[in-house]
Amino acid sequence: MFIKIIFRFLLVILLFNFINCSNKLIYSITSNLDPTVGQIVTIINPINNDILSNSSINLDCTINGIVSIDENQMVAKVLCGFKSLISIDLKSGENQIIGISDSIIPTFSTKSQQLFYSNNNVYMSVSTNIYKSITFFDFNFNTNFTMFNSIPTFDYNYLVDDTSIYSFDYNLNNMYILYSSESNSSNCNLISFNVNNMQNTLQTYKSINNLENGFSQLLFTNEQGELFLLYGNPNTDSFDVCKFTLQENSNTCINVLSIAVTQLYPNFNYLLSYLNDENQHFTIVQLTNDNDSVQFSTYYISNFTIAYQYTINNIWNNGNTQQTTYFYSS
Ligand SMILES: *[C@@H]1O[C@H](CO)[C@@H](O)[C@H](O)[C@H]1NC(C)=O
Ligand SMILES: *[C@@H]1O[C@H](CO)[C@@H](O)[C@H](O)[C@H]1NC(C)=O
Ligand SMILES: *[C@@H]1O[C@H](CO)[C@@H](O)[C@H](O)[C@H]1NC(C)=O
Ligand SMILES: *[C@@H]1O[C@H](CO)[C@@H](O)[C@H](O)[C@H]1NC(C)=O
Ligand SMILES: *[C@@H]1O[C@H](CO)[C@@H](O)[C@H](O)[C@H]1NC(C)=O
Repeated sequence: MFIKIIFRFLLVILLFNFINCSNKLIYSITSNLDPTVGQIVTIINPINNDILSNSSINLDCTINGIVSIDENQMVAKVLCGFKSLISIDLKSGENQIIGISDSIIPTFSTKSQQLFYSNNNVYMSVSTNIYKSITFFDFNFNTNFTMFNSIPTFDYNYLVDDTSIYSFDYNLNNMYILYSSESNSSNCNLISFNVNNMQNTLQTYKSINNLENGFSQLLFTNEQGELFLLYGNPNTDSFDVCKFTLQENSNTCINVLSIAVTQLYPNFNYLLSYLNDENQHFTIVQLTNDNDSVQFSTYYISNFTIAYQYTINNIWNNGNTQQTTYFYSS
């Protein structure tokens, strides 16, 4: 009886500790272009550099990004092969297919911005090499039907098509796509539309001055629906954030934050930045000068102050171009 009580007491302490630190964990999934090589899932407690879990799982496809992580259930959802939504138990590595798109999906190239997920729909906007158009994908994993629409795109430099970048506003269900202008390489154009009513809501904002899309990292909105871009600035060796002012005739993106970084283009295949928790935070991932550690700096989107910052051991294989590492933290 007494032992049972002590056991229960210990269990409660263990659970408490686990939950207590669970909101500070960093999750990484390293995917390999060759699906027969395991995809590595790692959970780290950044406070003490502790690797809580490290498993290698075999899926028949390459992971394209983390769609969501439920930290209470310790379950990640990932998009795999741009076709299937798979849930992965982060502790055991067990996985299960939630849905497989039943459409024939065109091939495309994509800049690694993360995926946007709402009500079992995964949204993505990429170039499918169609003349002057960007394709919007809506993977609906309730029905397994994937809708893809070609968006007619004014002044789109589709020859440098890797540079389009997109964002999703969860409050308005709006998607934004920023792309390079064909007529002036130092400008960008932007389109926005409601994902449930694209035809009637499509808007184009032309010639956003002095914004080169090649360096862009993340496009995101705040709670008020204001739109921002995080981009690498080669003139100042910094990651800058600018805020869009969209008007009929004069569109600009005005700098609101500058963050000095060690390397703008590290030879390391990870996402250099990612959004957390439905656009509450963004995190910048940086190698330290000796490449032995990786620093994670998380900023509030509401006021751009640092929410937290961790430096942890570099356990990722930096140089392997076959691999991409995706991160998640809350
Ligand atoms: C994690 O697991 C992978 C695959 O089993 C292994 O290659 C890697 O060295 C492990 N990493 C750490 C930090 O233990
Ligand atoms: C979607 O695909 C998954 C995996 O193949 C399957 O289990 C599920 O029944 C499908 N859903 C529908 C509505 O067809
Ligand atoms: C391109 O746009 C910039 C402003 O962003 C302007 O200064 C420049 O004159 C434009 N170049 C041409 C060729 O129109
Ligand atoms: C760190 O990695 C970069 C490439 O990302 C390389 O240019 C640099 O020489 C490395 N530094 C050290 C100290 O190894
Ligand atoms: C910034 O905003 C967050 C919530 O969005 C808040 O918790 C934090 O205290 C704010 N920091 C400052 C310095 O205003």
